[in-house]
Amino acid sequence: MAEDKVYPVDKERAAHSLINIDDYHRLYQQSIDQPDIFWAEQAEKFVGFFEPWSKVFDGEFAKAQVAWFKDAKLNVSWNCIDRHLPQRADQTAIIWEGDEPDSSLHITYRDLHQAVCRMANVLKARGVKKGDRVCIYMPMIPEAAYAMLACTRIGAVHSVVFGGFSPDAIRDRIQDSDCRTVITANQGVRGGKLIPLKHNVDKALEQCPDVHSVIVVKHTEADTGWHAERDVWYHEAISQVDDQCPAEVMDAEDALFILYTSGSTGKPKGVLHSTAGYLLQAAMSHKYIFDYHEGEVFWCTADVGWVTGHSYILYGPLCNGATTLMFEGVPTYPDASRFWQVIDKHHVNIFYTAPTALRALMSLGDEPVKSSSRASLRLLGSVGEPINPEAWEWYHKVVGEERCPIVDTWWQTETGSTMISPMAGVTDLKPGSATLPFFGVKPELLDAHGKVIQGAGKGNLVITQSWPSQIRTVFGDHQRCVDTYFKAYPGYYFTGDSARRDKDGYYWIIGRVDDVINVSGHRLGTAELESALVLHPKVAEAAVVGYPHDIKGNAVYAYVTLMTGIKDSDDLKKELIQFVADEIGAFAKPEIVQFAPGLPKTRSGKIMRRILRKIAANEIDHLGDTTTLAEPSVVDNLIEHRVNR
Ligand code: WTA
Repeated sequence: MAEDKVYPVDKERAAHSLINIDDYHRLYQQSIDQPDIFWAEQAEKFVGFFEPWSKVFDGEFAKAQVAWFKDAKLNVSWNCIDRHLPQRADQTAIIWEGDEPDSSLHITYRDLHQAVCRMANVLKARGVKKGDRVCIYMPMIPEAAYAMLACTRIGAVHSVVFGGFSPDAIRDRIQDSDCRTVITANQGVRGGKLIPLKHNVDKALEQCPDVHSVIVVKHTEADTGWHAERDVWYHEAISQVDDQCPAEVMDAEDALFILYTSGSTGKPKGVLHSTAGYLLQAAMSHKYIFDYHEGEVFWCTADVGWVTGHSYILYGPLCNGATTLMFEGVPTYPDASRFWQVIDKHHVNIFYTAPTALRALMSLGDEPVKSSSRASLRLLGSVGEPINPEAWEWYHKVVGEERCPIVDTWWQTETGSTMISPMAGVTDLKPGSATLPFFGVKPELLDAHGKVIQGAGKGNLVITQSWPSQIRTVFGDHQRCVDTYFKAYPGYYFTGDSARRDKDGYYWIIGRVDDVINVSGHRLGTAELESALVLHPKVAEAAVVGYPHDIKGNAVYAYVTLMTGIKDSDDLKKELIQFVADEIGAFAKPEIVQFAPGLPKTRSGKIMRRILRKIAANEIDHLGDTTTLAEPSVVDNLIEHRVNR
């Protein structure tokens, strides 16, 4: 069994790690038994405060009412920039690698300070104040980082919307958190393709009358529509403001950012993170898990539109004074060796990516990897979805040439930072296992009755006590936060994932048990996809499930019932797929659409997704109990017409 395969820590390398496995166990125990002492020490080590806290932790976990470092004062942009200026003004903070291989920039901490101050002053000049929400819809360019940090500098709350979202999705997010300012670029460029970001914003804002300012970075030469009273060019605006801007004094629990994520029901939720706890745990996990050493180049390939980009491109690394790489492009442009070429070009030491990218690259063979040296690489990371042992082995053997440990980091938008992961050079590895919990994280597995499973076993993954970077609320709807995460198992935070724990206490994440589909590491809610489909005038009803996919991990399978009298056709399938792309974003496109004259429902009218999942996965011999179906013949029809792959 894969479980039996262990890659022990290399002794020589362990000698250079920040801590060893005995330290891990000792510190872990302290973090659980005496969290106040543990976190106070870590906070002093990792974060600079303007004023100290009165209490390390206060609140009630079960009600999602928690405060960390109560009354302390600090500023995130100050921690990520100003604090480093005395020692590292000339050190590169951000290496930017553009879409084209000949475009890159080195931005020092001094440059970053100036750019962020200017952007902050532009926001102030447009009337943005502490507590205001600012929507950021940007390509992966340095200005995205400036924008996020500028918000934190003046205490505005950023809501980054991934550049792949459609105008409707942008509109919903702007409206939900009442953003009055948007920061965008005229166009994005990815894999040689142009993305009409400003155009999308213009469309979204047709229904957002309260937005008074759109700050536009001129990233390409293309023209864009213009609303003179509302739109400002970034390059013009920054030339009119000072390059000094004091960092606002923020409370430890002041809101830092909102990030929308899909859940099992309803519209995406605005997950809200606060200041001190988030920053501390992002920085600390970056340092310990990746064994980050002074001077190293760290590359996380995520987009800043997702939480991984927030915590491990920006806040964690910059809080630690690291050099972080930001990549605008895609792994296969101009060819499939791009990742490895970038590693050589910028002497990347630590590389952190998603299994879906690895599987896609693996399918293209070893040659593109072998065309590079990767001599600088010291360790590898994985995030976003379970990494299958085959992809793990390929990553280890071919990319890392068996000398780089792999840290498989399990976490969520809601957790803010990594919760279960090996620490490089500390933890013995097992391919496919996220291994052991991070400091302060106490996971448990619960059985179907909500009982704690002891020892080895499989169950629903919950967290039993508060951690500093935990979600504070769902923006504008605290009850939804309680209902979503703290209601299924009272007293516990429910992750939505199931997992297995082996005899060594190692965790193996299995996947979502709720109605969230993880497609290429992107979270999609079935409810969201279904609402998009039924908006189409020809669709009467839709049910969406995930099914296993070789490259994407999971893909979307949509069952669609058409309005009476509408004829199905391949063209209509294509139209519906495009319709979802327009409603949400291209990354949410269903892989498969099956027209269904009826959907399997219980007598009370509830769609039986369990059956739909089985049909989508081609597991028609194990449909399980179908006796509660209102009309059993519906299932026969679905099976007969299922889309074979
Ligand atoms: C999944 C991304 C297995 C999981 C940081 C989780 C993983 C969801 C892993 C959160 C991993 C993330 N192994 N599954 N290492 N990392 N997941 O909010 O299902 O975009 O609940 O955060 O991704 O996705 P999110």
